[in-house]
Amino acid sequence: MDINKKIEELKIVPVVVLQEEKDALPLGKALIDGGLPVAEVTFRTAAAEGSIRAMAKEYPEMLVGAGTVTNVEQAKKAVAAGAKFLVTPGFSRTVTEYAVKYGIPIFPGVCTPTELMFLLEYGLTVAKFFPAAQYGGLDTIKALSAPFPGIRFMPTGGINAGNIGEYLKNPKIIACGGSWMVKGDLIAAGKFDEIRRLTAEAVKLAKA
Ligand code: 3PG
Repeated sequence: MDINKKIEELKIVPVVVLQEEKDALPLGKALIDGGLPVAEVTFRTAAAEGSIRAMAKEYPEMLVGAGTVTNVEQAKKAVAAGAKFLVTPGFSRTVTEYAVKYGIPIFPGVCTPTELMFLLEYGLTVAKFFPAAQYGGLDTIKALSAPFPGIRFMPTGGINAGNIGEYLKNPKIIACGGSWMVKGDLIAAGKFDEIRRLTAEAVKLAKA
């Protein structure tokens, strides 16, 4: 599977923080039913590894990846659990080397030209631009695109229903990441219907 192509088709990558593994399957179902069969499950909680395993097994049609990967140990755990791609919040040489060596798609977090130079050194063509809103949003992506014509971006951080349309109009943007449709309080309260509704709304906006 060409992960970049798949992510470009999906247009949105929900960034998920799961406190409890038991929420993984209802969350996955809400995303699938909302029309967005993809999740970046972040290694910010102890539930990440088990949640990835559960979702990848139960929903083979879903593209399950791991986010907030900050070291090789987490990357290995994520891949063993079934993660199909890795996202790192910043650029890590060790995690990137591991991913490139084993052919695992990786989207390193960058926000400067220097970090994009690292990306080029590893032959990568898609960066997570993070945190997007705080680092200048679309204007910064446009400016970075000039010296790096071969790079495309997955902006994340501060993207929501109100601004995703504008981001996705830029051809340098492969997809947007965000947590607005999978907020922690909705997951904690078991409001999976609301997650499905927000997901469907996001998909509609992305297609507009
Ligand atoms: C991330 O790690 O990518 C961000 O926490 C997601 O940003 P958001 O919560 O502003 O969507």
